[in-house]
Amino acid sequence: MEEKTINTIEKDILKVLISERRLKKRVREIGAQIAADFEEKDPLFVGVLRGSFMFFADLMRVCPIPCGLDFLSASSYNSGTSSSGVVKIDYDIKADIRGRHIVLVEDILDSGNTLYNVSGHLKDRGAKSVKLCVLLDKPARREKPIKPDYVGFTVPDAFVVGYGLDYADRYRNLPYIGVLKPEVYEQ
Ligand code: XMP
Ligand code: MG
Repeated sequence: MEEKTINTIEKDILKVLISERRLKKRVREIGAQIAADFEEKDPLFVGVLRGSFMFFADLMRVCPIPCGLDFLSASSYNSGTSSSGVVKIDYDIKADIRGRHIVLVEDILDSGNTLYNVSGHLKDRGAKSVKLCVLLDKPARREKPIKPDYVGFTVPDAFVVGYGLDYADRYRNLPYIGVLKPEVYEQ
């Protein structure tokens, strides 16, 4: 029987920035660090949808302490090409977080607007503490005074995709972090 060639998303990737093996190793290290820091605190892990879903799931698997989890979704109002800095919570957590320790999990910290606003929102809802855990940190474009507590990798100012991160909702299912070929944007 003739074998059909599948047209995969890999063809759009210019280079692999962080391999599957490096991601796995680093996520294991962060999980162990959070487990040690939150052992007696029954933290609530809050994932920012949708980009954090893969990191979130892998992190949970390597952080074997009593904890809960929830999700929220946020979007920023954009004026032209630049982000206005105003963030709207599109979907909020269900849990009562009064007095809880929160580990806020996000795919990438860029301008800082999303996590600045979301962590403020969680504190307003009565969280006892909010720690920020990001897979990627892109400090070059920071607009808000915000420091993550746990960082997977610091990345240069390039648009990255994969392992949950998207371009036009594609490439989230790549198992590594990669840089797109410029012609993908230019199409
Ligand atoms: P801010 O600027 O609020 O942005 O810190 C965080 C959100 O912006 C998205 N973002 C990216 N998404 N590749 C992506 O796929 C990137 O290089 C990138 N930089 C920022 C992302 O959704 C994140 O939640
Ligand atoms: Mg996001």
